[in-house]
Amino acid sequence: MKKAICVALALAAILGASVATAQIKKGKTRILTTKQLMGGLVQPHCKALGDGLKEAPADDDAWAALATHAALLNETSYLLMDDGRCPDATWADASKILGEGSAELYAKIEAKDAEGAQAAFKAMTQSCGTCHKAHKK
Ligand code: HEC
Repeated sequence: MKKAICVALALAAILGASVATAQIKKGKTRILTTKQLMGGLVQPHCKALGDGLKEAPADDDAWAALATHAALLNETSYLLMDDGRCPDATWADASKILGEGSAELYAKIEAKDAEGAQAAFKAMTQSCGTCHKAHKK
């Protein structure tokens, strides 16, 4: 019985420590804060995609600009998982939705499929709410 309590306490300590060392607001070693990552990278590229997909893009340059935004937004899904920033499964799942969603969006942009791109954009932005609900205080 004593041993069971000891194991339970040890487990609680390990779980508690892993939550405490996950940074959420910042990674462990790099300088970029989550607030800066959101305000400087995620939000601008997401907004540019949302605005750019309201109507079918006019020409090749417009499609190429959207591809750049989608590719950079895709990179942010990796940044969110780097450097000990990820605290839990909700965060990891949301980052996965962002990564897979932006890759799907990129494929639709490459195919110049405006309707498909709009649908992929909508699916991808579910990642924002999923993570914010749990972690944006
Ligand atoms: C895996 C988690 C996660 C995902 C996915 C995520 N965010 Fe965030 N976001 C956060 C956290 C945490 C904060 C709060 C950061 C802080 O204030 O320390 C935040 C804050 C923000 C802010 C406020 C920035 C500021 O200057 O205060 C904006 C805007 C934002 N997110 C946009 C987005 C958009 C758009 C998406 C989807 C494309 C998204 N986020 C996806 C975790 C996430």
